[in-house]
Amino acid sequence: MKISEAIRSRRSVRKYEERPVEREKIEQLLRAAMQAPSAGNQQAWEFLVVENKEMLQKLAKAHPYALPMAKAALGILVLSKEAALKYPAYWQQDLAAATQNLLLEAVELGLGAVWMGVAPEEERMQFIKDLFQLPQGVTPFAMLAVGYSPDNQFVDRFDATRIHYEQY
Ligand SMILES: Cc1cc2nc3c(=O)[nH]c(=O)nc-3n(C[C@H](O)[C@H](O)[C@H](O)COP(=O)(O)O)c2cc1C
Repeated sequence: MKISEAIRSRRSVRKYEERPVEREKIEQLLRAAMQAPSAGNQQAWEFLVVENKEMLQKLAKAHPYALPMAKAALGILVLSKEAALKYPAYWQQDLAAATQNLLLEAVELGLGAVWMGVAPEEERMQFIKDLFQLPQGVTPFAMLAVGYSPDNQFVDRFDATRIHYEQY
């Protein structure tokens, strides 16, 4: 699949089949995430993969829009590691790039996924820190629910009025 095709067919997928996702595919998702650009190439990311059903149920309660996690084959927590940050101001931009890479790779692998916001909402961040007893200096950025799903509908969002050449 061409990257342009993955970009065009990516949608937030919130319903999943019961089928588990193969370990190789999970690794491919994480490889894609780690290929993302980052400020000064700091790569201050870590990932926590959750397949345990009980923990997925708990994650679904992280906030009101996290319900898809309850029925996902797995969840991926995208985390920042403070000690690896050379340019701390950019941590969220770096992790957003990694998260988007992961979503696009999911399309390529025939998986469905949805990005669920965590940072900068303190309450959500604390919920995840507590749930996984994350060590000091490890900060949750986002979580993704992932699973097999047939559900991928193209929507055309191109809007020429949003583009400005040379002058606004
Ligand atoms: C930063 C961010 C946070 C999001 N948080 C949630 C969320 O908590 N729950 C959810 O179901 N979708 C969440 N989404 C997915 C958006 O709702 C979705 O991308 C948007 O509606 C566009 O639909 P599409 O992804 O299918 O193109 C989030 C997306 C982003 C980028």
